[in-house]
Amino acid sequence: MNHPAMHGLRLTAPAHVKHARLASWVAEVAALTGAADVVWCDGSAEEYKRMCDLLVAAGTMKKLNPELRPNSYLALSDPSDVARVEDRTYICSERQEDAGPTNNWMAPAEMRALLQTGVNALFKGCMQGRTMYVVPFSMGPLGSHISHIGVELTDSPYVVISMRTMTRMGKAVLELLGTDGTFVPCVHTVGAPLQSGQKDVAWPCNKTKYIVHYPETHEIWSYGSGYGGNALLGKKCFALRIASNMGRAQGWLAEHMLILGVTTPAGKKYHVAAAFPSACGKTNFSMLVPPQGYEGWKVTTIGDDIAWIKPGADGRLHAINPEAGYFGVAPGTNYHTNPNCMDSLKRDVVFTNVALTDDGDVWWEGMTDTPPAHLIDWQGKDWTPQIAKETGAKAAHPNSRFTVAATNNPALDPEWDSTTGVAIDAFIVGGRRSTTVPLVAEARDWVEGVYMGATMGSETTAAIAGQQGVVRRDPFAMIAFAGYNMADYFQHWLNVGDKLAKAGGKVPHIYCVNWFRKGADGKFIWPGYGDNMRVLEWIVGRIEGKAGGAENAFGVSPRYEDLRWDGLAFSKEQFQSVIGIDRSAWQQEMVLHQELFTQLTFHLPSELPATKARIEQRLAA
Ligand code: OXD
Ligand code: MN
Repeated sequence: MNHPAMHGLRLTAPAHVKHARLASWVAEVAALTGAADVVWCDGSAEEYKRMCDLLVAAGTMKKLNPELRPNSYLALSDPSDVARVEDRTYICSERQEDAGPTNNWMAPAEMRALLQTGVNALFKGCMQGRTMYVVPFSMGPLGSHISHIGVELTDSPYVVISMRTMTRMGKAVLELLGTDGTFVPCVHTVGAPLQSGQKDVAWPCNKTKYIVHYPETHEIWSYGSGYGGNALLGKKCFALRIASNMGRAQGWLAEHMLILGVTTPAGKKYHVAAAFPSACGKTNFSMLVPPQGYEGWKVTTIGDDIAWIKPGADGRLHAINPEAGYFGVAPGTNYHTNPNCMDSLKRDVVFTNVALTDDGDVWWEGMTDTPPAHLIDWQGKDWTPQIAKETGAKAAHPNSRFTVAATNNPALDPEWDSTTGVAIDAFIVGGRRSTTVPLVAEARDWVEGVYMGATMGSETTAAIAGQQGVVRRDPFAMIAFAGYNMADYFQHWLNVGDKLAKAGGKVPHIYCVNWFRKGADGKFIWPGYGDNMRVLEWIVGRIEGKAGGAENAFGVSPRYEDLRWDGLAFSKEQFQSVIGIDRSAWQQEMVLHQELFTQLTFHLPSELPATKARIEQRLAA
């Protein structure tokens, strides 16, 4: 390994950096990785522009036609680096049982040897020939008591520009850190050192990948990928895996949830946080446009992916969105499914792995009914509808994404940046299930709601490397994100509700939803998207004590007459096919709940099997 002194590396932090511990950690990582240079990012518009120019020159990004898509770019990744790699993601707690059976685990000392300290440690010399960027960022509004600060060191300029959009990033964060503020250290490398004279590739990465969390010391080390949640370490690694550990210790929740505001025609506003797995419509639901017949209703976005939720002195749970932008799935997004999102994407966007049109704009499957006659697909190859028909080639990768600032969203809630957050009135949990799970069910109490979240199942999507469309248990949509033992996570949810109730606080209702039941023809029965407003109206009605419902084996669900059908032809029979509880399907479902409980048996709170027994009694009645 080259010694940094040999290539003029700036090991001394710039004068404006007053935080000695931060400066020495940066120098230490620069020395370990052999970075050719160190650049401290200020988060300015000039810096963003400079980095974008650099990425265009490197061939990583293409500038889109400014007349069609101003200030926007298309990045194409290596075809092997397109999704989160859950099988390469580790929770390295001191004790394996603290990571629990649903996380990959390695002893911290063993992992450190592999990554940092061993003779052939992966991070040794991994940034040779590359610049290491220092990216200070705040998860959550600057100065909020719910927010936390991180610093990511990365050799990927694509990560730097993405972090600027997805977080509050730069100089103001350094100032907030002062001389000794606390930060989560995050180290990221694409794992592709350059020898002198070696030509770079457009999307450097490494076949070997490690996404590593040390929950006791709140550290993140990521090796080998430049894509999404593997590399933008503020998102899944910090805001979910590390933050869930912080929340557990400090009595708050870090959740894979959107947050929305819903205002009724009477002017009453409620806030809802909803957990759906990756690529199951969190962004769409958070930007919902009410359908015809819902004049006077308004839905506004606070967040589309992550919520940090803390009990307040007023006995309510207060939520912030720790992010500042959206890293959303492009395919399927269009003016019917999500008009607010389409409007957000008119300018200032980095698209990754979508297709390029001949006039320098972007396209993805589902954007328009009729595809363009010719495209360059996400792998840089010619694409036509005929080629697609013959080979099945997708123009855009199914997990292709847009990265855009929240401030581009026309439905952005005025309180999205509030340092005190918004008070949550209801939680929703739900997966993608073509059978069994009803359109909506209200939990009778907090414990039954935790049961609903804990036993959630969902058919897997392209957001995760691996097989798609298989049902897996995804408790609270956190299977890949809970940074500690999942059974302890259930206990934490029970504790939060219990504490709130004992303090006389307002315990939010919990609802389970499923937009995805299919008919015998294999098509979705429920229209979804804007029509999900009908379910949201029912939830608001339940909060206000006005809406009716019927007790079921699994919670309380609306009858046909409890929903409003203005503007939608949806028969009683169709409704029955999305709301009905099929006894034998549910008996089967309970076997799957038991499988999860058996896997988590060691720490499982007794309330959950007790709730299961009650459901089984109702099913047998
Ligand atoms: C995401 C995910 O990128 O959940 O938000 O995969
Ligand atoms: Mn997500």
